[in-house]
Amino acid sequence: MPSDSDASGLLDRIWQALLLATVERRHAWRTPVLATVDNDGSPQARTVVLRHAEQSSATLHVYTDRRSPKVGQLITHPAGVLVFWCPTLSWQLRVRAVFSADDRSKTMQAAWRQVKGTRAEKDYLSAKAPGAPLPEAAALTASEPQLAVLIGRVESIDWLEIGREAHRRALFDHQGMQWLTP
Ligand SMILES: Cc1cc2nc3c(=O)[nH]c(=O)nc-3n(C[C@H](O)[C@H](O)[C@H](O)COP(=O)(O)O)c2cc1C
Repeated sequence: MPSDSDASGLLDRIWQALLLATVERRHAWRTPVLATVDNDGSPQARTVVLRHAEQSSATLHVYTDRRSPKVGQLITHPAGVLVFWCPTLSWQLRVRAVFSADDRSKTMQAAWRQVKGTRAEKDYLSAKAPGAPLPEAAALTASEPQLAVLIGRVESIDWLEIGREAHRRALFDHQGMQWLTP
């Protein structure tokens, strides 16, 4: 059986990889899929960029347009899942988190300072909400940034390692760590 130090060592390595993914543009974990539930109870999923990962507070941040459908979905159903796959590590993560959308506080202001002046700036300056029909292919620009920070408080991490000989899987949650059948 794995010891407690194996378990916390693995969790530390997972968080280190998440942190690396926020700064390394080519890291496969930089672009996870965020799954949510819409108002009809149907699943929705889309690719996002992981912007911030902090183990001490167990939080992950994603930037978005505050008018995007996912924000409304997370207000109604705050539980979401971020799915990551990294072929280099051969690790999949399914991270269940409770999300809040922040479009006012210092966190959002700091996020906007990070994005302003970069190629991503225009993503938060669209005159229309994401998904709104456009008369032409080109989008109009808004005068005010529409950026919101989705703050995910991590509740559990389902880790799966795809090995040549064998796979390994573990669940980390409030109760600790449990090895699972892959
Ligand atoms: C590589 C890639 C990265 C993306 N990153 C983000 C992101 O960080 N935030 C975001 O809101 N949308 C991002 N998108 C667009 C979303 O996948 C999605 O199309 C858009 O946010 C609308 O989603 P919604 O209608 O479910 O709200 C990204 C798409 C791709 C392909």
